[in-house]
Formats: sequence, C-alpha cells, structure tokens
Amino acid sequence: MSLKAVVLGCGTYLPERVLTNDDLAKRVDTSDKWIRERTGIRERHIAAEGEFTSDLAVAASRNALEMAGFSPSDIDLVVVATTTPDLTFPATAAIVQAKLGIENGAAFDIQAVCSGFIYALSTVEKFLTSGQHKRALLIGAETFSRILDWEDRATCVLFGDGAGAFVMEAQKEAQAQGRGVIASYLRSDGRLVDLLYVDGGVSTTKTAGHVRMQGNRVFREAVVRISEAMETVARQAGVSANDIDWFVPHQANERIIQGVVKKLDLRPDQVISTIAGQGNTSAASIPLAYCAGVNDGRIKPGDLVMLEAMGGGLTWGAALLRA
Ligand code: UT7
Repeated sequence: MSLKAVVLGCGTYLPERVLTNDDLAKRVDTSDKWIRERTGIRERHIAAEGEFTSDLAVAASRNALEMAGFSPSDIDLVVVATTTPDLTFPATAAIVQAKLGIENGAAFDIQAVCSGFIYALSTVEKFLTSGQHKRALLIGAETFSRILDWEDRATCVLFGDGAGAFVMEAQKEAQAQGRGVIASYLRSDGRLVDLLYVDGGVSTTKTAGHVRMQGNRVFREAVVRISEAMETVARQAGVSANDIDWFVPHQANERIIQGVVKKLDLRPDQVISTIAGQGNTSAASIPLAYCAGVNDGRIKPGDLVMLEAMGGGLTWGAALLRA
C-alpha cells in the first residue's frame, strides 16, 4: 500500500523585537502610507543580536513537535529551507538537529530563497513516501534582516525574520484517510537571476552581501508564474479552484496575493494572510501563515490547502495538501 506524507503538527516563532513602518521612516525616505498601500505591510519582527536562524528554527520546531505529540527522538529527517544559514557550513539543519538533541536520521538545508519551503515540502514528501524516512521536521527559517541594505528603501521595508515548522509523517494510505501532500510543482529560470539576488557570496566576494531587487519586474513575473504553478498543481491533482478550502501564499506583497486570487477566481476570505504583521519572511512565510490558520481554527483536518511561492532565481512553485 502506498504512503502519504501527512502534516501532523505545525509551529512558529517570531523574534520579540518589532520594527514598524514609522520606525523605518526615521531611517530611510519612506512612509507608513507608502509601505502599507504598496505592500500591505505594517510591521515586521527582527532577530536580536546573538539570535540565529537555528534558534528561530528550534523554537518553531518545539511548538510543532508539541502539536504533533512527538518528541525530538521520533524525528529521523530534518530539512531547513533558508537563505540565511548560521554558517556557510554545516547546514543549519544539522545545527538544529543537534540543538534539539536528535541523534537519528539525516539533516540538510534547501536553498530556493522565498520558494524554499515549497521546494523543501516537495523534497520531504518524496523522502517520506519512498519509505526512506518516517518522520520529518520541515522548517522554513530566516534572519533576512542580516542581508538587507538598511539604506535601500526599495528592499529594507519588505522583509522580516521568523520561522515556521511542520512535523510530517509517512502514513499508509488507509491510515492517512485522504490527508497529506497531494501534488507539488517546482520551477526555476536562472536567466532571471538579475531580478532578485544578493550581491555577495562565499566564492565571489567572501561576504554575505545584500539583497538587490528590481521589484517592479519581480512583481510582474510573480502573478503570472504563481498562477501558472497553481493551475498546474490543481490539474495534476484533478481539483478545481472551487474545491480549495484555503489559500496559503508566500507573503511577499498583498497586491500580488490579490492579483493571484482574482486570476484564479478564488475568494478573498480563503486567503491566510500574515503579511501585515510579519512582512516577507522568505522561506518562513508559508509555514508561519499555515500555522496561523491552524491555530485560529480556520484550517481543519481534511481541508484542501493550496500553497505557493516565488523568489530569487527566479524560483517558483505550488503544492496542494489535505490538512
Ligand atoms: O519574495 C520574493 C519576491 N519578491 C516580491 O515578490 C516583491 C515584488 N515586488 C514588489 O512587491 C513591489 O514591486 C515593491 C513593493 C517592491 C515596489 O512597489 P512598486 O509599486 O512596484 O513600486 P516601484 O518599484 O515601481 O516604485 C515606485 C516609486 C519609485 O519612485 P519614482 O521612480 O516613481 O519616483 C520608487 O523609487 O516608489 C519609490 N519607492 C519608494 N517610495 C517610498 C520605492 N521604495 C519606496 C519606499 N518608500 N520604501
């Protein structure tokens, strides 16, 4: 009997410090009005000095494990989607594994920038449904504030720090009762690297670099490519927009989200949006939003949930799961 990869728990963590639009307007030539109207963002969380991506990931993982009713020793796969690792190596996932006291299985990172969680979900699903691993911690965690140019108003107002985690288990079809990841679709087009990238790296400048973005061009690509990914995943799964209960998008810009909603004939009340209070947390945004929907009772077991993201690369993708 075939296996399904089922989400049994989710958890989140946001750093304590909040940076508002008004705070940013004191640093760069911007305003609360411009940021809210163009992006939907009001404030974002910023990691404290000495608080690392792995710390955010561990806090979110503990919450996810608690919801799932597992202890760290039940986990045999840790995958972290991040663009802001603690160190160049080892993988942040290995650091998380050690901090949680997990002695079993494997741990590795996935780098697909803001699409990282979709890439990681698709990867973990294959590891679990192949039978190679039994229970996974799938984490999106970022300290994006560390790679922002705080003088560049076009990018520094957009991003925030945070982490979200899923506990996933390989279950036999009958046990899963229709739950689990149903389909996923990943794409990238490296020719578009100049639209969104970091101007530094280990092999080039030996520095971490800063985010550079042609926001307007990324915006125009986003609605088209995200919609195409969602339509592809829905077609693969044999479902229509009407069947979808909840839409959990990557939280880059409220206007992108609304553009996709309109293009695919979804209803605005199906969207789980956390952008106002968190900004764009890159690979962490999808599990942060998903978990917000679970915690406030909107996403219930059995609901059909569409996830999507687009980010640097360009990379993009979508996934459909039954909660
Ligand atoms: O998660 C990864 C994927 N990332 C995204 O999906 C981000 C996609 N892009 C966006 O969300 C939007 O393009 C932005 C929010 C980044 C920018 O919004 P926009 O409506 O595309 O503005 P724009 O870049 O066309 O700039 C319009 C104006 C410009 O001024 P001029 O040339 O018209 O005088 C900018 O210099 O707004 C100016 N501007 C700002 N003004 C005040 C740019 N940033 C700011 C700012 N405050 N923070």
